[in-house]
Amino acid sequence: MTDDPARTTAHTRRFDSAPSAIARAPGRVNLIGEHIDYSGGVVLPLPVDLFAWVSVSANAHPGLIRAHALDLDEMSEQTLDAYMAAEPRPGDWANYVHGTIAALSDLLPGDWLATHGIDLTLRCDIPAGAGLSSSAAIEVATARAIAALTGIELDPLEIARRCQQAEHTYARVPCGLMDQAASSMAPRGKLLAFDCLDETGQIIDRPADLSLILIDSGVRHALSDSAYAERRVAAERASQLLGVNNLRALLDENMPDRVESLPKPERAAATHGLHEMRRVNAAIDCLRAVDLAGLGQLLNESHASLRDTLRVSCTELDTIVDIAQHTPGVLGARLTGAGFGGCVLLLATTDRASGIAESVIARCPDDVRASLVLIDSGL
Ligand code: GLA
Repeated sequence: MTDDPARTTAHTRRFDSAPSAIARAPGRVNLIGEHIDYSGGVVLPLPVDLFAWVSVSANAHPGLIRAHALDLDEMSEQTLDAYMAAEPRPGDWANYVHGTIAALSDLLPGDWLATHGIDLTLRCDIPAGAGLSSSAAIEVATARAIAALTGIELDPLEIARRCQQAEHTYARVPCGLMDQAASSMAPRGKLLAFDCLDETGQIIDRPADLSLILIDSGVRHALSDSAYAERRVAAERASQLLGVNNLRALLDENMPDRVESLPKPERAAATHGLHEMRRVNAAIDCLRAVDLAGLGQLLNESHASLRDTLRVSCTELDTIVDIAQHTPGVLGARLTGAGFGGCVLLLATTDRASGIAESVIARCPDDVRASLVLIDSGL
């Protein structure tokens, strides 16, 4: 992987050594299938053309990781042992780097860390907290760079799993596998129907004429806050109360009365989970049939469920979605990612996409600081 000279120069200047390996990994947008990866659902993300870049070289200080975040101009310098032994510090960017190296450490060749340390330069073009998985991209780029530096072989699924482990153990976000799988496994320009139960992916083509518009609400919410974890816990408790292994099993069972009788948070999790999983299956059918109107309608229904049933939206996201859904030419709109802030995803045909993006943003009230992240019209 080549990098632009500016980043290579920054690494060389900071560490007095040119990078031995450079890797990148993309952010992702999830077309549909939200808050179901941790319940064994099938999700439908695709990579976006925004990347985390990681350059690495070995240093002579055993076990010492020196990481420089170029965008923040911050350094994090500590031995891997000290990092692993310390109290986790959720919210610290260094978790995505040090945590990933920690999650890979048992795979490194015998005494590699006993004889070397790692110098690492990070640059991320993906806005943080926007629901586009900047953290997963940093983790996957770090894993790829470390694999190249140390000569270990990792398949893309193993990378995704190790990066998820870093997120759980060090960033303390109990995420599903979607973001890391999308960043590690989804080919550019395609959708990845990733089955979070058996951890297999199926590549799905994008309809030629379909554009994805991402509008940032400007609202930020850290996933290490409790709201995300609470949704996951509710989904797990719902499965326990229903006597199934995960909410995916509800697709094969007919138990509407039992779902209705669950306590409120569990009922919300089960109802959203079941219907969102059905919507993903329907969305795959729409993609194959190039039924763009049908696909858009599923996105609108997904947003309504995330807003009213699972309650992971916020006023700003709802305002943008509402304006978008009333804009001629918009096929469908919903929040994408975990919610609580971040981006709205709009679908439109490519010929109308840029006019629609401008019009939606122009009609947002002053207290919503909407901005365009990108229009993705495929390759
Ligand atoms: C975050 C998590 C994912 C997934 C989504 C919601 O992005 O990291 O695992 O749960 O939220 O679909």
